[in-house]
Amino acid sequence: MSMNLNIGVIKGDGIGPEIVTEAMKVLDKAAEKYGHACKYTQLLLGGASIDVHGIPLTDETVEQAKACDAVLMGSIGGDAKTSPWYQLEPSKRPEAGLLKIRKELNLFANLRPAILYDELKGACPLKEEITEGGFDLMIMRELTGGLYFGERRTEEIDGVLTAFDSLTYNEIRRIAKRAFDIAMKRGRKVTSVDKANVLDSSRLWRKIVEEVAKDYPEVALEHMLVDNCAMQLVKDPKQFDVVLTENMFGDILSDEASMVTGSIGMLASTSLNETKFGLYEPSGGSAPDIAGKGIANPIATILSAAMMLRFSFDLDQEADAIEAAVAQVLKEGYRTIDIMSEGKTQV
Ligand code: IPM
Ligand code: MG
Repeated sequence: MSMNLNIGVIKGDGIGPEIVTEAMKVLDKAAEKYGHACKYTQLLLGGASIDVHGIPLTDETVEQAKACDAVLMGSIGGDAKTSPWYQLEPSKRPEAGLLKIRKELNLFANLRPAILYDELKGACPLKEEITEGGFDLMIMRELTGGLYFGERRTEEIDGVLTAFDSLTYNEIRRIAKRAFDIAMKRGRKVTSVDKANVLDSSRLWRKIVEEVAKDYPEVALEHMLVDNCAMQLVKDPKQFDVVLTENMFGDILSDEASMVTGSIGMLASTSLNETKFGLYEPSGGSAPDIAGKGIANPIATILSAAMMLRFSFDLDQEADAIEAAVAQVLKEGYRTIDIMSEGKTQV
């Protein structure tokens, strides 16, 4: 059945415009091949929005994003030392726009798959015996709560900045449910990561995850402390299927997981709400140091576009075709420098 895909596009900052342009070409090609039509609406977020509107996200952009079926995004932010965006107060900087759009669109479930491609074993910093046979794990990061969104205030007297952790019962429940649903379609194992030996919020997290697990008897649940998980990811990444964790831990662990796959430039991600809507973006940052040189790795964004077809449009066949094409390109030896050879963004 032919579909009209109403896609918002946030090209973003740094390498964002280059990598999104390549992903759009791939989307157009897939649409042409399978008889769909892509309609793109360009949206401004982050530094690009500051340059035009003075703020990293306008209400108008939020409304425009809501009117799309899904949004494809590059990356946002610049060099904190040199970019004028970082002279602004924190709430007006590029990252604030990203956090705001996540909150406004209720994108609570952040899926960050980390897959080691056979062809890229050489780029993986781990020893061969550890990665033998490859690995394929999915970080499920809670994205609209935790320290990121807890109440913040500056005490008047001694200038101490106090941050509170904030996760409600329902927030933990819905992300846990999503993680178990995804595990049912994968390896049927959930590793829930917390810091329950220290944090009350983690003890609440663990209790609710266990409650949710009762509805999924086929899924094996284990708990792991976050410091141990950081170690296990490099010691034995094959042990993981779905790694379920809160916002801050997920931010850190997903960068680590990406590096063990060889490059953060390879990893797609999506942030979903309760509907089919998703914000699809590469896991990596805007890499201002290599922006405009045509050497950034577009694969993470191309795979994010494939995730979009799968999750927001139920176009599994089309998503499979894009993923197979990426595997084929790697097999044929095409590389960008982050995965260990000379190369360029465009083919
Ligand atoms: C990420 C990024 C963001 C985050 C920043 C840019 C606000 O690191 O998506 O992982 O911390 O969530
Ligand atoms: Mg991060």
